[in-house]
Amino acid sequence: MKIAVYPGSFDPITMGHLNIIERCSKVFDKVIVAVLINPDKTPLFTIEERVELINKSIKEYSSVEVKAFSGLLVKFMAQQNASVIVKGLRAISDFDFEFSMALMNRKLNPDIETMFLMTEDRYAFLSSSKIKEIYMLGGTSEGLLPEHIEQSILKKIAQKNHDGI
Ligand code: PNS
Repeated sequence: MKIAVYPGSFDPITMGHLNIIERCSKVFDKVIVAVLINPDKTPLFTIEERVELINKSIKEYSSVEVKAFSGLLVKFMAQQNASVIVKGLRAISDFDFEFSMALMNRKLNPDIETMFLMTEDRYAFLSSSKIKEIYMLGGTSEGLLPEHIEQSILKKIAQKNHDGI
């Protein structure tokens, strides 16, 4: 059984991420969406919220599951019996970071391959950070987020404004 891991912060998951998940679910027997618990960052959504939002977004893909992880990705991969890291590649600007990460992961575990899927052009400019910035500044997006994620962002921002954070 070929198991792939699609790792990321997913704060929150976007249509760009879901496009990669859909496409790699056609290639691998099982895909684990691995959500990073990063104590150095303050995400908009907690790890539990991010996992729940992804779970709601992937209901139609029976071979895809979501797990939170911390620490080294290659260690998590070994625990999951996974041999392939899947990453989406948007533009040249992604390449430097992804290239060094792939080489480092291979150094850490030569049995693990990183495979890249080129993003669809309609999502080439999309990132979770840009989405958060747009919504925090009162804008909206069309076709870039599942409806329930948009509602969750709006709710979260309203709550933050109410709490004065
Ligand atoms: O969505 P992101 O924030 O770009 O995802 C980055 C992620 C989670 C893929 C990356 O930070 C990661 O793999 N972190 C785990 C720690 C690790 O294994 N580091 C060594 C790789 S060089």
